[in-house]
Amino acid sequence: MRELEGRRLVIGVTGGVAAYKTAELVRLLVKAGADVHVVLTEAGARFVGAVTFQALSGNPVWTDLWDARMSNNMAHIDLTRGADAVLIAPASADVLAKLVHGLADDLLTTLCLARDCPLLVAPAMNRQMWEHPATVRNVAQLREDGVTVLGPDAGDQACGEVGMGRMLEPELLFEAVAARFQSKLLAGRKVVLTAGPTFEAIDPVRGITNSSSGKMGYALARACARAGAAEVVLVSGPTGLPAPWGVRRVDVKSALEMRDAVLAALPGADVFIGVAAVADYRPAQPAEHKIKKSGEALALTLAPNPDILAEVAARPDAPFCVGFAAESRELDAYAEGKRRAKKLPLLVGNLVQDGLGGDDNEVILYDDAGRHPLARAPKPAIAQRIVEHLAALLRARKG
Ligand code: C5P
Repeated sequence: MRELEGRRLVIGVTGGVAAYKTAELVRLLVKAGADVHVVLTEAGARFVGAVTFQALSGNPVWTDLWDARMSNNMAHIDLTRGADAVLIAPASADVLAKLVHGLADDLLTTLCLARDCPLLVAPAMNRQMWEHPATVRNVAQLREDGVTVLGPDAGDQACGEVGMGRMLEPELLFEAVAARFQSKLLAGRKVVLTAGPTFEAIDPVRGITNSSSGKMGYALARACARAGAAEVVLVSGPTGLPAPWGVRRVDVKSALEMRDAVLAALPGADVFIGVAAVADYRPAQPAEHKIKKSGEALALTLAPNPDILAEVAARPDAPFCVGFAAESRELDAYAEGKRRAKKLPLLVGNLVQDGLGGDDNEVILYDDAGRHPLARAPKPAIAQRIVEHLAALLRARKG
């Protein structure tokens, strides 16, 4: 998806070790179609050279307020005219302080003062600098001035200390930037989703699970966050996927844990989307200790799991519920049957051979108006279409 096609972004790089991550961010932005212009401060240029950013962005890199390449000598004005946003990453404690006071003693701070587009900052600094009352005051003031502060994160720091102050990873910064240009179809809504497989213990080391990768559920959670949802809670079975930007992930293993986590997250939810491939059965009595091998046949007694989606949809205060159905044949009949049985306003059906575990999917949406096939596409694009469809149904229902 070239989702930033036609967007012009100015990326400011100040002095911080995290500048190396900004090189990757620029690559991601350019790959998504953005026209990226990098401005380095003098300190920023000590960490990653202009040549790297020039090669990655395909555009000249700017450092000097007096750069003769800009014929009218107005780099501080011209760079942001027509820009959709300025993002400073990494943003040092020094640049945050300068922005608060409107200082304009180099190209980056001058263009920030002269800009007419949104400003985002991704702070990166030692934890004590981040926690210093001066920085705390500055960050609060920047927020009040309408600046978007992205992160920082907690973790290992370049200085060897551990704590708050790490710059967000490039993928998360990319998400935050991309989300700004998405229409806010779910503004103000709370969304709860399930994703991934469940794992039903047989004994302490073995269990029953399935091949769901969680990719579709994670893509949907990400699409909901991008669509401006006020809160997105993703109750996830075991997957190797990172939590998307703006999504609160609750990790669970079994269907029973998933049910409890969903019910706990449900108050105030406007939408519930059950994407998880929840195991229909679990071993009735998981063994306390590892089952030993013997030459004998072994029979497992299975107990049915609760149907989380059906339970949520049957509540008197049910949110707008969306179900998924992965079938191996007769998709229309099974999908529409499930939608009616679980009383769902929307169900997404696909053939397992088309979607399970893979990166692409081919789905059909079923609602009261009928069936709506979507063209085969990567899961993030399918997720976006599902969000558009459910937002339209939600609006029609409320309106
Ligand atoms: O397993 P089944 O095909 O009935 O799943 C249809 C929908 O119901 C899916 O959205 C799935 O996430 C949900 N489901 C559930 N709890 C179960 C089984 C399925 O929430 N125990």
